[in-house]
Amino acid sequence: MTAAEDLRFPDVDLNIYSKNNPVDVPILKSEIATRASSPNIIRHIVFDLSGTELEGRFVAGQSIGILPPGLNEKGKPHVLRLYSICSPSFGEDGQGRQYATTVKRLIGEHWDTQQLFTGVCSNYLSSLRPGDMVKVTGPSGKRFILPEQPEQFNYVFFATGTGIAPFRGMVMELMKRGNKKNIALVFGSPYRTDLLYDSFFRGLDERESWFHYLPTISRENPRTDGSRPYVQSQLTDRADLLKPILERDDTLIYVCGLKGMETGIIQGLAANGLHQYLKYKEELSGDPIGWDEQTIRRSIKPSGRMFLEVY
Ligand code: A2P
Repeated sequence: MTAAEDLRFPDVDLNIYSKNNPVDVPILKSEIATRASSPNIIRHIVFDLSGTELEGRFVAGQSIGILPPGLNEKGKPHVLRLYSICSPSFGEDGQGRQYATTVKRLIGEHWDTQQLFTGVCSNYLSSLRPGDMVKVTGPSGKRFILPEQPEQFNYVFFATGTGIAPFRGMVMELMKRGNKKNIALVFGSPYRTDLLYDSFFRGLDERESWFHYLPTISRENPRTDGSRPYVQSQLTDRADLLKPILERDDTLIYVCGLKGMETGIIQGLAANGLHQYLKYKEELSGDPIGWDEQTIRRSIKPSGRMFLEVY
C-alpha cells in the first residue's frame, strides 16, 4: 500500500462559536500584503483570540467566520463570510493565540448601471484598525487540511490570488515539523506586484532544496504560443520539476483559488498522463486540453489525492 492510499486526516474542532453564538475579538494588526505599487488592496489581518475558546483550536487550511455588522438590502443581518486562515496551527505568535487571514478589498463597477459596488465584508474587515472588535465564528472546514503525519508526503500546491492563504499556513506547519519532502508552490497573480508573501516564499526557496516556488504572472509576458501563463501552464512549462514530484506515490495536490483553475488543472494533469489524481466516471477521448468544463464536471472528479477549494 502506498502512503497516499493510506491517507488519514486528524479530527479537528468545528464551530466552537457559531453564527448564533459568535465571540468578539480585537484586531491585532492589519498590514498591506502586496508590494506598495500594486493597485489592489490586500491585507494581512491578525485576530487576537487570547482568552477565547478558539485559542490553539485552528489548524492550517481551516476558515474563520466573520459577521459584518448592519443589514442587507432586504433588512436582514448580513450573512456570515468565511475566510481561510493563513496561519499554521500554532498561530502567528507560535502559541495559538493569534491567527491571521488574507483579505482583498472587493471594489468594482456594475457593468450595466455603471455604479460602484464594494464587497460588504471585505471592505468592513479591511477598514478595521488594531483594537477594533469583530464578531467571529469557527473553526470551519475539515476537508482542506493536511493529513496526519503530513511530513510523510510531497505536496504540489496551486493557488491564485488570496487562495494562497491556506498554503502559507501549511508550509509554515510543515517547516515546523522538520519537513524534508518536496513542496512545490505554484502561485498565480496578474502582476508581480500582486504576489502575496512573496519574500517569505522566495527566501524559503533560496534556503531549502525541498521547497520550490513557482510564481506565475498572467499579464506580463505571454507564453510562446501567446497564451497567458496560468498556474496549470506550469504542468507543461515546468514539467521538468513538477512531473517527477507528481509521479511519486506519496504526493498530494491541493488547489485553492478561482473556480476556473479546476478545469485547467484537470486538463493539465490528464494531458501529462497524471491520471492518478483523477477519478473518471466515463472514458474521454481526444486531447484533454480540449475537454470543456461541462464534460469535465460530468465525467471527472478529483481522486483521493487531490483537494480543491475553489470559488
Ligand atoms: P488573469 O490575468 O487572466 O485575470 P487575482 O485573484 O489576484 O486577480 O489573481 C487571479 C489569477 O488567476 C490571475 O493571474 C488570473 O489571470 C488567473 N486566472 C484567471 N482565470 C484563470 C483560470 N481559469 N485558471 C487559472 N488561473 C486563472
